[in-house]
Amino acid sequence: MSRGIGFPVTYRCLFFACILALTHVRTLADPPYKNCSTSPGNFSDAKFQNQRNDLLSVLSSYASKSRFYSTKVGDNVDDQLYGNFLCFGNLPLTECQECVTLAARNIKKLCPMSKQAIGWEEKCQLRYSDEPFFGTMDNTANLPLWNNRSVPDPELFTDAVKKLMSNLTETAAYHSATNLLSTGHSSFEDLHGLAQCTADLSPSNCNSCLQFALNQILSCCSSFRGARVYSKSCYLRYELYVFPGIDSDNPPPSKKSRRNVLVAVFVAILVVGLIVITSICLYCSVLRKTKHQGKYGTLT
Ligand SMILES: *[C@@H]1O[C@H](CO)[C@@H](O)[C@H](O)[C@H]1NC(C)=O
Ligand SMILES: *[C@@H]1O[C@H](CO)[C@@H](O)[C@H](O)[C@H]1NC(C)=O
Ligand SMILES: *[C@@H]1O[C@H](CO)[C@@H](O)[C@H](O)[C@H]1NC(C)=O
Ligand SMILES: *[C@@H]1O[C@H](CO)[C@@H](O)[C@H](O)[C@H]1NC(C)=O
Repeated sequence: MSRGIGFPVTYRCLFFACILALTHVRTLADPPYKNCSTSPGNFSDAKFQNQRNDLLSVLSSYASKSRFYSTKVGDNVDDQLYGNFLCFGNLPLTECQECVTLAARNIKKLCPMSKQAIGWEEKCQLRYSDEPFFGTMDNTANLPLWNNRSVPDPELFTDAVKKLMSNLTETAAYHSATNLLSTGHSSFEDLHGLAQCTADLSPSNCNSCLQFALNQILSCCSSFRGARVYSKSCYLRYELYVFPGIDSDNPPPSKKSRRNVLVAVFVAILVVGLIVITSICLYCSVLRKTKHQGKYGTLT
């Protein structure tokens, strides 16, 4: 009986260690986030799935041409579905399309039967509804998120965040050339920020959305080293590194990617260590087994 134990126990440990390592890596990748309606709406379910599939494929294919697009599908009042996507900042179009395609896949999983939904990814957002929403500002589903690691001098940092983000907010709404977008960085440390609205908003609606989001950041988390507000109508984010959508001719290696490298190295060391330990255990149990077998052999 005792002979059988060595193998499964070691493998079980290895299995759990791998699961642990994998879940650790997964927690670093935060999005997608979602807000899905629960009201049944007027669609029959089969019709709805069809219309949504049509809408999502039109949106995904358009993301190779533009960072913002809105459209509707359906000819009759009771089968229309409205949708848009927004790729954040100056995201390259190839990445925009990848992101919107991912968002389309995720929103079907995250909001299977919702007639109104928005999904937020790292680099883009995707929204649809059975009610028209183009041109209206909506901050009812705003989702502020932050990296809760602190900074050495929170007061100084908060001031820098406030100064940079107020500037970007006003610039995006009133002084951006076409697309209600502004990015910038502060001389304070390596602080980068982005403020953006869906391109269908008027400047004053854009300003309202961004001001509201900025106040959310200032009241929850401007003393933390990174924060963002996801919204149906705008996007606000700052970090101490260059993040997706920020203009940078020659982006320095970001703190985040350095951290990812550290995690990868840690996982690699863990896995190699486990393999070594497993091999030693296997070797020992084989030795023990052959020893026992030898003994029994001489006895019989
Ligand atoms: C659903 O149908 C009702 C009655 O026909 C109508 O009043 C309502 O506006 C419809 N809702 C939507 C979201 O189309
Ligand atoms: C989704 O948005 C609604 C408002 O549109 C809000 O009341 C609700 O709390 C949000 N749900 C989640 C899970 O954030
Ligand atoms: C940050 O968040 C993590 C995980 O959510 C939590 O364990 C930790 O206590 C938080 N730290 C601070 C300073 O709030
Ligand atoms: C934002 O900052 C830039 C660069 O420092 C400056 O030129 C611009 O006038 C500022 N805009 C606003 C609205 O404060």
